[in-house]
Amino acid sequence: MSQNHWEDVYQTKEADQVSWYQAQDDQFLDLLKLLKIKPDQKIIDVGSGTSILIDQLIASGYSNLHVLDLSQTALEKTQLRLAHKGLKTENIEWVVGDICTVSLPHQHFDLWHDRAVFHFMTTAQQQEQYLANLKGALKKGGYLVMSIFAEDGPTQCSGLPVQRYSLEELQKRLGHEFTLVHAQKDLHRTPWDSTQSFLTSVWQFQNQG
Ligand SMILES: C[S@@+](CC[C@H](N)C(=O)[O-])C[C@H]1O[C@@H](n2cnc3c(N)ncnc32)[C@H](O)[C@@H]1O
Repeated sequence: MSQNHWEDVYQTKEADQVSWYQAQDDQFLDLLKLLKIKPDQKIIDVGSGTSILIDQLIASGYSNLHVLDLSQTALEKTQLRLAHKGLKTENIEWVVGDICTVSLPHQHFDLWHDRAVFHFMTTAQQQEQYLANLKGALKKGGYLVMSIFAEDGPTQCSGLPVQRYSLEELQKRLGHEFTLVHAQKDLHRTPWDSTQSFLTSVWQFQNQG
């Protein structure tokens, strides 16, 4: 059901007609520098949609990218855009799948990026499946960068209910294997000029068991 919803969104709307649209995502690029992530390290963007972030990552030299989304249309749109720009995509792994159930390589990624996806996991089962996949796929010492609706953010996105988080609630949900590195709250401005409160946090995976 959820897959049909997202397919419909990306088949009927242009990239800049959705509330989460960003013309660029410099915050994430700055965080990569802060974390000293090297261009050949492995990054996964889960629920990537048609995010411009992929263009920016490639243009900045990051080459080992996994781009995952529930919507095939979204990934095809990103592929088309990259081709038009002449950006190199040979090393990109494109994955159409549900982040809760998709099979990912074990202890593979140096960094897992999620912008506006985890907050759609509103049941305990979805959250547990998502976190099991995250913990299985992230290397020991790897990073999680997550931007989701803060406790004073919207209660819905794309017409779907969301789970909002304070930093403390997120820490509790992620569990003791994740150590906080950085956190900030930001207001995202939608294409129609409303604002949404986001919590961006960076965690290191300690994998202590
Ligand atoms: C609000 S959009 C954010 C897109 C992108 N991260 C950005 O910042 O522009 C949420 C995205 O998550 C994807 N998504 C939702 N549930 C998902 C799931 N269970 N597995 C994988 N992707 C999912 C949707 O298809 C959509 O592209």
